[in-house]
Amino acid sequence: MKEDVTRSIAVRPAAGSLGAEIEGVDLAAPLRDWIIDELRQALVAHLVLFFRDQNLTPDEHLRFSRLFGPLTRVPYVKHMDEYPDIIAVLKEADERKISTFGNAWHSDFSFLEAPPMGSVLYAKEVPSHGGDTLWANMYEAYDALSDGMKRMLDPLRAMHSGRPYGVAHAPSGVRTSRSIAIERENPQADREVAQPVVIIHPTSGRKALFVNEIYTTRFEDMTEEESRPLLAFLFRHCIRPEFTCRFRWKPGSLAIWDNRCTLHYAVNDYDGSRRLMHRTTIAGEALVGAM
Ligand SMILES: [Fe+2]
Repeated sequence: MKEDVTRSIAVRPAAGSLGAEIEGVDLAAPLRDWIIDELRQALVAHLVLFFRDQNLTPDEHLRFSRLFGPLTRVPYVKHMDEYPDIIAVLKEADERKISTFGNAWHSDFSFLEAPPMGSVLYAKEVPSHGGDTLWANMYEAYDALSDGMKRMLDPLRAMHSGRPYGVAHAPSGVRTSRSIAIERENPQADREVAQPVVIIHPTSGRKALFVNEIYTTRFEDMTEEESRPLLAFLFRHCIRPEFTCRFRWKPGSLAIWDNRCTLHYAVNDYDGSRRLMHRTTIAGEALVGAM
């Protein structure tokens, strides 16, 4: 059979700022090269892509994820025994009033010297309502700043640390899901790493803000107290509703996002329901600053 090279997949923007739903692709089947090219281009253009009604085995999930780069294993979160490149993100129905994984605006593992390029999250079991995920566009957050603020931020670096999830700094009384084993006191997650405050995205060449409220603790060579007012402004600024999109999961939904130019937030509003997601993490490279 002759391949129809004129066909193209449907890419439907999900919001004004970022996000697009992709239609007409079965991710369980081996994908043709032109589809892979279009998906890679769509990810660069839309930052997060959504697929509906997929039926993937863990091996098919892994194969799709690897189209975007080699996978990596991240510190302090336990991976699945039988699939060590997959994390099962699970909250049981009887786990109430706990802090869930990702329940604050962040970019994944920004405290690693080479933060992940992206993640692929696949919904196995979701509540009938609630449990949405939001993303924010960090290019637009940067672009919307004044020229004076951009000039000030461009040369700065900020310290990132995984400590907030570590035992020494975990807020007292907050419990995390018993279903996601988090290792405390992991040296790789606990030390501080300096990252550019404004990065040049390695693929698009665009500038993006790279700070987040979970892991960014202070500006380099400044105290936490001195850093707090400006960081607090940036944390508020970069999640303005105009810069965000929100995705409602159904069983079989899949999202892939670029972790360098977005933040995300998992909404914890579904006590009483079970939610099970499978997540892979795509390796990234050290980030280059704007100056
Ligand atoms: Fe996350």
